[in-house]
Amino acid sequence: MIEESNYSLKHLNTFGLDVSASMLVRISSQEQLPQLFKSDKFRTQRKMILGGGSNVLFTKNFIGLIIKLEVSGVEVIEEDDDYSIVGFGAGENWHGCVQWAIDHNLGGIENLSLIPGTIGAAPMQNIGAYGVEIKDIFHSLEAYEIGTGNFVTFYKEDCHFDYRYSVFKGEARDRYIITRVNLRLTKKNHAYNIEYGNLKQTLTDAGVEELSLANISRAIIEIRQSKLPDPNKIGNAGSFFKNPVIDSEFYESLKAAFEHIPGYAHSDSTTKVPAAWMIEYCGWKGKRFGDAGVHDKQSLVLVNHGKATGRELVQLSKKIQASVQSTFGISLQPEVNFI
Ligand code: EPU
Repeated sequence: MIEESNYSLKHLNTFGLDVSASMLVRISSQEQLPQLFKSDKFRTQRKMILGGGSNVLFTKNFIGLIIKLEVSGVEVIEEDDDYSIVGFGAGENWHGCVQWAIDHNLGGIENLSLIPGTIGAAPMQNIGAYGVEIKDIFHSLEAYEIGTGNFVTFYKEDCHFDYRYSVFKGEARDRYIITRVNLRLTKKNHAYNIEYGNLKQTLTDAGVEELSLANISRAIIEIRQSKLPDPNKIGNAGSFFKNPVIDSEFYESLKAAFEHIPGYAHSDSTTKVPAAWMIEYCGWKGKRFGDAGVHDKQSLVLVNHGKATGRELVQLSKKIQASVQSTFGISLQPEVNFI
């Protein structure tokens, strides 16, 4: 366990916000957690668990203890002819896990290539992209229960996964620390999923004749790199808002007023509307206020062009919410966690 005080978080959040934490501890094995929570020095402090820092917006310095989960390791824990269940330490980089799977010809997460962050944070918000969500290949996870000091297993049904949601954002919030994630990946007969957006077209344009995990991953990387800013160059946390899920009847009434508004069936009676489209319609794409801005290639992504503060990004997000609300009568909810 490595402990540091007055620690700069600038390189630990993908927005690149220049904030600090009173104290930071790095946890490299799950056995260190009971030790940490027993210690008087740490028990009384406000705490926050940090993975890759790719979904947080720090609005001020963090007065308290940041627990940086760096538990590593990848191992096949069970397999049969068709599937492998692979356990990943929560601190493993998500894209590294995707690459590991592809290198071992294990299918199911190739569409989730290049998503920033750690695998431990991935189930919390049920990360998803290009037609796949982590819930689709999720087997189980292990977590430390802060209140009891026990390690517990959550199976898929325990996690209550939904669009960008799990129990860890609801009733289990702040009660557990995820230490290991187990995914069930295909060894053969991979279920390639190329229906989303322009994925098929990108594969055709690349001259791909036979689908493979690596080909799909490459195409996804190309699409993402063409639209989403690289956090190492321009600070951002991916989609800033969730795509609102609205009543399909309401969607039909919007369509009467806004002929081109896209919508995708979410359930029998609900429709998911791309927030990016509404934000662009309201004229925000590429706008910049000081160093806080809206990405010019994907309007759902707010960016830090250099020295923006968390507060400036929050102010910008509130202006966007107000204009989408007054134009469409829809309240956008942030996907990013404000701290
Ligand atoms: N669109 C616009 N203007 C834009 C961008 C998009 O009008 O600037 C419209 C288009 O109609 C487009 C539609 O929005 O067809 C959807 O765009 P896109 O495929 O880029 O996806 P998204 O809805 O903006 C979601 C996820 C992303 C994920 C992509 C691809 C959420 C909140 N975001 O974005 O996830 O990569 O789909 O599957 O669900 C993230 O969560 O951080 C993230 C990047």
